[in-house]
Amino acid sequence: MIRGLLFDLDGVIVDTAKYHFVAWQRMAAALNIHFGHEENEQLKGISRVESLERILTWGGLTLAQEEKQHWMDQKNAWYLECIAQMGPEEILPGVAHFLAEARAQGLSIALGSASKNAVPILERIGLLDAFDAIVDGTVVTASKPNPEVFLEGARRLGLRPEECCVFEDAEAGVEAALAGGMRCIAVGQPDVLGRAHRVIQSFDQIPNPTEAVNSL
Ligand code: BG6
Ligand code: MG
Repeated sequence: MIRGLLFDLDGVIVDTAKYHFVAWQRMAAALNIHFGHEENEQLKGISRVESLERILTWGGLTLAQEEKQHWMDQKNAWYLECIAQMGPEEILPGVAHFLAEARAQGLSIALGSASKNAVPILERIGLLDAFDAIVDGTVVTASKPNPEVFLEGARRLGLRPEECCVFEDAEAGVEAALAGGMRCIAVGQPDVLGRAHRVIQSFDQIPNPTEAVNSL
């Protein structure tokens, strides 16, 4: 029986991948590194520091620790500029209804995100109160596909991993859920996310949370 839901943030609740793209591309351009949509795809679910490492590797660039910190701070400043205007209208289709319904049905709800900007984003879109626990990039150290973020989410809900279902849009996130021994519903393309127990395109497809997570 599933009693808890663990939500990734970026790409599941809001489409912030487009803002991460703008910010990383600005940095890559300044460093003369090619960064396109294909590269951005590979950074979904990946922590800020690991994302930077990957971009530098793709560009064949080696930087000192202080320079890396400088570029991470700069990228985040550009990202914050992008998300400053966000509001509830950016919540992805069906998500607000799904969260409200899940709570009404007595399911526990946690966030399991790699982002250090999760709380300000949830505040801006008015969904902070929808979560019983928040596990984000300020809490965990291991990047997905390590299951740490979801295991900690389950622990904070007082549930065992097998009592939880994860919602993810990233391949690394699906792998993290499976490695943690959880069920997983992926949001996106079946050819990329096919290892999940079910792949949906939108939460509009699953209006009844209890039914959706217990029929996997
Ligand atoms: C994940 C995103 O949710 O958070 C990644 O999918 C991002 O693209 C990561 O790098 C860290 O985010 P932030 O906001 O701490 O830079
Ligand atoms: Mg995501």
